[in-house]
Amino acid sequence: MSTLISHLQSIVGTPHVLTEGDLSAYEQDWRRRIHGKALAVVRPGSTEEVAQVVKACAAAGVSIVPQGGNTGMVEGSVPDESGQQVVLSLTRMNAVRKIDAANLTVTVEAGVVLQSLQQIAAEAGFLYPLSLAAEGSCTIGGNLGTNAGGTAVLRYGNTRELCLGLEVVTAQGEIWNGLSGLRKDNTGYDLRDLYIGSEGTLGVITAATLKLFPQPAAKLTAFAAVPSMEAAVELLGLAQRELSAGLTGFEVMNQFSLQLTDQHFPNLRIPFTADHPWCVLLENSDNESEAHARERFDHVMELALEQGLVLDAVIAESVAQSKNLWHIRESIPLAQAQEGLNIKHDISIPVSNIPRFVAETDALIAAATPGVRMVDFGHLGDGNLHYNVQAPLGDDGEAFLKREEKRINTIVYEQLMKHGGSISAEHGVGSLKVHSLPKYKSPVALQLMRQIKQALDPQGIMNPGRVLEA
Ligand code: FAD
Ligand code: MLT
Ligand code: ZN
Repeated sequence: MSTLISHLQSIVGTPHVLTEGDLSAYEQDWRRRIHGKALAVVRPGSTEEVAQVVKACAAAGVSIVPQGGNTGMVEGSVPDESGQQVVLSLTRMNAVRKIDAANLTVTVEAGVVLQSLQQIAAEAGFLYPLSLAAEGSCTIGGNLGTNAGGTAVLRYGNTRELCLGLEVVTAQGEIWNGLSGLRKDNTGYDLRDLYIGSEGTLGVITAATLKLFPQPAAKLTAFAAVPSMEAAVELLGLAQRELSAGLTGFEVMNQFSLQLTDQHFPNLRIPFTADHPWCVLLENSDNESEAHARERFDHVMELALEQGLVLDAVIAESVAQSKNLWHIRESIPLAQAQEGLNIKHDISIPVSNIPRFVAETDALIAAATPGVRMVDFGHLGDGNLHYNVQAPLGDDGEAFLKREEKRINTIVYEQLMKHGGSISAEHGVGSLKVHSLPKYKSPVALQLMRQIKQALDPQGIMNPGRVLEA
């Protein structure tokens, strides 16, 4: 192995091959559930270096775990415990290669942090709409690797819909330059879409050409208390009819998720948390003006109040207040992490089935494990809930997970199958759900996935044991 390490040092430079010291930022996942051990953390500075690193690892039979900001939620971006895997960190590759204003595209390297791209796009007068609470540290490569969703999918789609072209280093160390800015290109199989969402198991994404959008003239948020999940779903329909494409966000939060956030972040000033079972956050992006956005929102809220869909509501008075309302929503995962380990479910269900799913599954879980605390929140507009189960008060999170995770997962996953849902909406499979997938995905689809893996990574060196069982 020392030969491989010196070879890697000769490719990327000795300071960029880390083998000792505190490597926990690379070896431990964001939720601190997995503590792996890397043979080395390698930080290439160019696509050519990535290609050489992959070739060197392939020749030595050493597997590679691509990594961006390491904010992934499914234990897919850290090495296993063997001490035999190379973590390939893309964070040094953070150049913006080109903005094409007329084509409404930007080409960036994989290590660009999402928030930097949002800022760069805004400075050029455009919007890059992907937005999620980890945007200060997650990278474009990680967003593409997981096909990240976030809070603007309702209007702009998942990362897949935002990507026009990719540059990839294959598992054999070849460079595929597919950095097309074309919106139409029907020249055969869509390789781009194979790599997006493949979680580092097929190759390394080194750069991407992404869509830009015109900035809306104004963005306004409203925060509303609703009497039930049924009302939240009806409100979504009403807002979609009234605001059409102006509705760019629709998030839901249950009472306990907001109480937990209030407890851990008391400065957030959360409106009316105490008395209502659910709250929703709506975002209206308007192409005319803030006044027009407010007028439209007032109209929606008046109708909703009349129909009993909303019990109380605030419409942000300023950009700062809008940001604060978003900040409340985005602080929920952080509050939950502070509260201790929980059983996480990132699930999707047709919106029409969500009220029944939640009512039935809440009851089944409460009967199976009395005292658990449900932290339910998420992207209701996309049919995506973070349906999380926190240990009963006073129970140790780790012990609770050991005891109950399998049983609760089975309840939730069976319910998802009954209601036409998916066990992973936006976070991916990683190693967290790799053993559940065969039970809940079509055998034909799984067989096709295995054949794709075999064709693109015959040596099995790309993030083995993630997405598909090794
Ligand atoms: P990493 O965690 O480093 O990697 C994630 C996966 O992608 C791994 O399998 C890795 O091997 C692979 N990968 C990374 N870089 C590359 C590359 N260059 N080429 C090929 N494969 C690669 N996700 C959502 O979808 N929506 C949300 O709303 C959301 N909110 C979040 C909020 C918080 C507070 C946190 C901590 C996470 C959240 N996530 C969310 C999950 C996570 O942030 C996203 O999945 C993000 O896109 C991961 O980016 P990353 O750079 O951190 O990737
Ligand atoms: C979110 O929507 O905040 C995330 O996907 C993070 C989470 O599920 O905790
Ligand atoms: Zn989410």
